[in-house]
Amino acid sequence: MADRKSDQQVGIVGSGLIGHSFAMLYAAAGYKVRIYDIKPELVDKALATIDDQLNYQSKNGLLRGKLSVQEQRTLITGTNDLAECVKDAFFIQECVYEDLELKRSVHAKIDALCKDGAIIASSASALIPSLISQNLKHKNRFIVCHPTNPPFYAPLVEVIPAPWTDPEVVVTTTHLLEEAGQVPVLVKKEIDGFVLNRIQYAIIGECWRLYEEGVMSVEDIDKVMSEGLGRRYAFMGPLETAYLNADGLHTYGDRYREMIYRVQCSFGSPQKMEGPTLDKIHDELAARIPMDQLNERRKWRDLRLASLQKLKNDLDKK
Ligand SMILES: NC(=O)c1ccc[n+]([C@@H]2O[C@H](COP(=O)([O-])OP(=O)(O)OC[C@H]3O[C@@H](n4cnc5c(N)ncnc54)[C@H](O)[C@@H]3O)[C@@H](O)[C@H]2O)c1
Repeated sequence: MADRKSDQQVGIVGSGLIGHSFAMLYAAAGYKVRIYDIKPELVDKALATIDDQLNYQSKNGLLRGKLSVQEQRTLITGTNDLAECVKDAFFIQECVYEDLELKRSVHAKIDALCKDGAIIASSASALIPSLISQNLKHKNRFIVCHPTNPPFYAPLVEVIPAPWTDPEVVVTTTHLLEEAGQVPVLVKKEIDGFVLNRIQYAIIGECWRLYEEGVMSVEDIDKVMSEGLGRRYAFMGPLETAYLNADGLHTYGDRYREMIYRVQCSFGSPQKMEGPTLDKIHDELAARIPMDQLNERRKWRDLRLASLQKLKNDLDKK
């Protein structure tokens, strides 16, 4: 039964937040998963976190796939040996720190150990695929899969091939992510920041300027997203929003293009997040969310994201 999914191995290199999340996602799809980390104690920590997460998901109706908690958990094992993690894997997901030299050195090791035909994916947030993979023997099998955090409740994954990536790698990777319940989108050519972060940074930049120019408080700027734009964006993007806000995009353009262009021209040049504005924004946030309560606030956030995911599952009958 060599073609059974549970006989096909995925290797996870780096067992931090993204590493253990990907391990759970691929196990939920039915694959055998081996997690490796340079620090053995972090593999044990990741396995304990996975236990907690699976139980939480099961209790709250959020478990992915068709397998039980126990079946998913049995598919995931840790190892302190990189070769054991990658040599039999058909898919390898690298999840080490965002550092070009570190990623290059880890990929050189994976490249020497993996089998021909394996797909080697990196979770890089902004390092473009050709920079990481240019010296690899298997560079035609390399791809970046940039997840969104937290991957279970924000399932988008940007898939970014290098110019030399085999087209089949893009197809298989996309299929695997869909099997795991993620939502892959293709970045068709390499670009600094990919797409998610380019849009995110455009938003942060404008929020920064509006605060600095005294237009709005930090709390109210955040409300513009959470109580306004973000309400729609949880279900549809800005392009469909525009399409629905008028009778199609041509009508939207006829009505609003001059205004949009005029406002866009006033955006000004990029600014660095530093200096007195940084201090003021931080202080306004800290007055509302004290620094010693960040973990509670993260739990508050994750509970809401999980509830939104459940609502979406129910609406889409998943
Ligand atoms: N956290 C996020 O929000 C997020 C979102 C999308 C993408 N990413 C990207 O995912 C990657 C991992 O991020 P993370 O948040 O999981 O980081 P993390 O700090 O939680 O985990 C990184 C792990 O890599 C391990 N590591 C370091 N060197 C290693 C080596 N040589 N071999 C094996 N393991 C090694 C560390 O011990 C650590 O466990 C980064 O490229 C990051 O940019 C992160």
